[in-house]
Amino acid sequence: MSQHTVLAGKRVVLGVTGSIAAYKAATLASRLTQMGALVDVIMTEAATRFVTPLTFQSLTGRAVYASLWENAHGGGGGPDDLGSHIAHVGLAERADLLLLAPATANTIAKIALGLADDLLSVTALAARCPIIMAPAMDAGMYENPVTQAHVETLRVRGVHFAGPVVGRMASGLEGMGRMVEPDEIIGHCRYVLGRNGPLHGRRVVVTAGPTREPLDPVRFISNHSTGKQGFAIAQAAVDAGADVTLISGPVALSAPVGVHRVDVTDADSMRAAVLAHATRGNQADALIMSAAVADFRPLRESDEKIKKAEETKRRRPAPFTLELVQTPDILLEVTQQVARPRVTIGFAAESEDLIENARAKLEQKRLDLIVANDITAEDAGFEADTNRVHFITAEGAEALPLMSKEEVGVRLVEWLVERLAEER
Ligand code: CTP
Repeated sequence: MSQHTVLAGKRVVLGVTGSIAAYKAATLASRLTQMGALVDVIMTEAATRFVTPLTFQSLTGRAVYASLWENAHGGGGGPDDLGSHIAHVGLAERADLLLLAPATANTIAKIALGLADDLLSVTALAARCPIIMAPAMDAGMYENPVTQAHVETLRVRGVHFAGPVVGRMASGLEGMGRMVEPDEIIGHCRYVLGRNGPLHGRRVVVTAGPTREPLDPVRFISNHSTGKQGFAIAQAAVDAGADVTLISGPVALSAPVGVHRVDVTDADSMRAAVLAHATRGNQADALIMSAAVADFRPLRESDEKIKKAEETKRRRPAPFTLELVQTPDILLEVTQQVARPRVTIGFAAESEDLIENARAKLEQKRLDLIVANDITAEDAGFEADTNRVHFITAEGAEALPLMSKEEVGVRLVEWLVERLAEER
């Protein structure tokens, strides 16, 4: 998991309350820690009935606070440890984020009313940092007008809610009140921590994944793109505070929290979505075209499933000819618009003469930057989690070392931040 996210070095106070979903808070604490956050866990008394302080202490390597009156569990008494009597002030003051996951109906009610009778509610009352709550409770409790009123009160005061969602609950019943999964909660943390970042107020459109060009009702032409690189760029842009639209071909990925996702299938629908979201009356600050748009599509889409020729059925090989035509070049069309995005970035997948070919595309498509990758290189390309890319501009080429697709996304967003700053 990447250390290069908006979570690195951030102080997150994780408040765990008494729900069976508390066991998922252990995963959450572990992931946040792996992503470089400094996680201080506060548990309510009820939470300690479900999971022990030692669990969190082991996962975060830091003291765990479970009482207003007794000392913290573990932590070794280092300079970062707070004595229990001042813990509520100290934890609240130095936190970048207060995350309550799971947040029970009882704790939500207490915080909405300003009650402060345990370390977590005291900390919430003293906190000046953003607060995220991930509710977890029985559907009846969540839907009760009392809980709804408390949620609304907190929302109006700026608390950000992650879920809950409809799903199976501890009671065995289905209903609204299930806590969202840890990865999604982390997405909310990134969104909230990033929202005032360097791309705050900027509109960024990212395309991702392959396109599918239909041949008949059951067949299509496509490619191996997984969308991983584009989704990683969209996440990095959210981390930097951008307002992100992610236009995606068919992929098996869920969109980062906070992005506006637009699903498309073929090159034509991707073209329409890009023009609508990035140009004309809706000019974006940046378009990052990482989708692997199919260059060709079948000339005709058959309404019926295409049958094998009679001869082929009799096992005599008969050539089948498929006529193809070029798809519209989306980037080219975008950069020809008067109201084009301020910055336009393309990708080039090359198997030979990487720099020269990519530079030719940069010029021909009138791009500000092209991210070129050698698809024959080891550990790079469509299905890998890593990429080896070059950033090519009119000024020169920079070869980046082998890095995760997440890191490529971060580097690209850093480049964009600088380029947009130069413009102002
Ligand atoms: N692209 C596009 N519209 C297309 C095809 C590609 O906007 N119909 C974009 C891709 O999203 C990518 C860039 O153009 O950002 C380069 O795509 P690539 O397929 O590598 O280049 P082509 O210009 O199609 O050239 P060639 O296939 O001949 O290498």
